[in-house]
Amino acid sequence: MIDSTRFLSTAARSYQESAIRKTGALASRVPDLISFAAGSPSPEMFPWDALASITGDLLARRDGNVLQYGATRGYRPLIEQIIAHVDAKGIRTTAEAIVVTTGSQQGLDLVGRVLIDPGDVVLVELPTYSGAIAAFHNLQAALVGVPQDGDGIDVNALAEILRSVAAEGRRCRFVYVTPNFQNPSGRHDLLILEDDPYGSLYFEDTADVDQTRPIKADDEQGRVVYLGSLSKTLVPGLRVAWAIAPPAIVERVELAKQAADLCSGVFDQRIAHLALGRGVVSSLAPRLRAHYMDKRNVMEGALAELLPGRVRWQQPRGGFFIWMELVGNISDRVLFDRAVDHKVSFVVGSAFFVNGEGHRFARLSFSAPSQDRIREGVKRLAAAFTKDAAQ
Ligand SMILES: Cc1ncc(COP(=O)(O)O)c(C=O)c1O
Repeated sequence: MIDSTRFLSTAARSYQESAIRKTGALASRVPDLISFAAGSPSPEMFPWDALASITGDLLARRDGNVLQYGATRGYRPLIEQIIAHVDAKGIRTTAEAIVVTTGSQQGLDLVGRVLIDPGDVVLVELPTYSGAIAAFHNLQAALVGVPQDGDGIDVNALAEILRSVAAEGRRCRFVYVTPNFQNPSGRHDLLILEDDPYGSLYFEDTADVDQTRPIKADDEQGRVVYLGSLSKTLVPGLRVAWAIAPPAIVERVELAKQAADLCSGVFDQRIAHLALGRGVVSSLAPRLRAHYMDKRNVMEGALAELLPGRVRWQQPRGGFFIWMELVGNISDRVLFDRAVDHKVSFVVGSAFFVNGEGHRFARLSFSAPSQDRIREGVKRLAAAFTKDAAQ
């Protein structure tokens, strides 16, 4: 056999595996593993009956378009639904500004493609979503982290970093932010790439809809590229998401998408269209908020009871995750190895940092496991903290 690796491009040689995906793959190797790793929605909340009836209706009509190729921009009636869906969040937009993407992960890749030249600086929060790190890294961006304060990105630090990037003669075109329920936690001439998959999933005991208003809703200059998705609020298996951007950018994203996949799955888009149109998404949202808030409470209760003094965290006001600080000397990787020995997993904090830090943190997802499994998983985690954990 020849060594085919020597044919790889420079970029492909440096591709990074997503830490979340890698940890997710453990489930097939470790029987009875409880995963607090992937940000997967709760299968208990999938709207089976509504989706069965929608797919049945779509197929019964034998309309060839339902299973045909479609427009690269997306199924036009779905785009109209998306306009109404984001209008409820305060975003006023038009069809010309929207492209449907195959998950917002594809949005990250395609928007990255049209904005990043190799070596360009992309600013990301510390910590940030590791799937975005992978997307921009694979496009050969130089990722620079910006610290956060209580309200999100630290604007003074941002200004300082931009000054030093400019002084080095490097180019920075955008900053990537996940303002709502951070995964994990414009006066400059920059674009903002706002990734908002969790915005509808605020917890009503501590947050309300006004606090989840997207940055895009106040974007008068056309500086914000906004990514939305149905993955967390309907089902991720449909892979239906969207990018909203100034038309000049959308046109290029469309060309990049043509080369990537011609169009997102048409059947998926048709299902998403009817799910939005029949109110499945809007009626599910309050139930999801309550469901995930309950699970957050269960995880917080178990952590407080079983790991007192060992971990600290700020109560999440929405989303799927507890961003947990490890007290004492234990590092994320050491804890991770011990945790897997005890059949529980999470994502190491360092996977969310682009500056080599984050080893004092772990991201725990409470979204997918049942309440019993959350309690059992935290029990296992507590056992992993003890010295004789590996025995
Ligand atoms: C912040 C963030 N962005 C994007 C994604 C990708 O989502 P999608 O399923 O829409 O590709 C995720 C998924 O976990 C996420 O947490």
